[in-house]
Amino acid sequence: MDSRNIFIIGAMGSGKSSIGRLLAKKNKMGFIDTDHEIENSNNKDISSIFEEYGEELFRKKETEILIGLSDIKNHIISTGGGIILCQKNIDFMKKMGIIVFLDINLTVQLKRVKYRKHRPLLRNSNLEEKLKLLKSERDTIYNNVSDYIIDVSNKDKISIVKEIEDTLS
Ligand code: S3P
Repeated sequence: MDSRNIFIIGAMGSGKSSIGRLLAKKNKMGFIDTDHEIENSNNKDISSIFEEYGEELFRKKETEILIGLSDIKNHIISTGGGIILCQKNIDFMKKMGIIVFLDINLTVQLKRVKYRKHRPLLRNSNLEEKLKLLKSERDTIYNNVSDYIIDVSNKDKISIVKEIEDTLS
C-alpha cells in the first residue's frame, strides 16, 4: 500500500476510527485519531469540550490538533466528521496525504449512532432529521475533497479494510 499518510473522513458512525485503527495495524502504520488527540490535550471528552467551550472553540482546537501533525509520515489519521468544515483542514490533508471518504447511507448510519451520549451534535434533536441535515450540508464536501470513496454501508470491517488496501495498492 502507499506509504504516504492516509486521512479517513466521513460522517459520524461511518467507522472512521475502527477502520483506521485496523488498517494501520494490518499495514504496520502509525495511527492517530484527531478526536482522541483533542480529548487528551484538553483532558476532557468531546462532549465536555462542546458543553464548556461551544462548537466554535472545538473547531479551533480540531484545526490546531490537525495542523500540529505537520511531521507525520506513514500514518493513518482518522478525523472527526466535521473536519471538512474548515478549508485550512482540507488544504492540510491534501498536502500531507491521501484522503479516503467512508460513505455511509442514512439507514445504516441511523442504526450505528443510536447511542449518542458522546456525540454532542446529535443529542438534543430528532436523530433522523439531524443526520439528514448534516448529510445535505457535508456530503458534497466529502465527495469533492476525497481522493477515494469507499461505500461502507453494508460491509463488514475486514472487507472495508481490504477494499481500501486494494484501492490504494
Ligand atoms: C463531529 C463528529 C465527531 C466529533 C464531534 C463533531 C461532527 O466525531 O468530532 O462530536 O461535527 O460530525 P466522529 O465523526 O468520529 O463521531
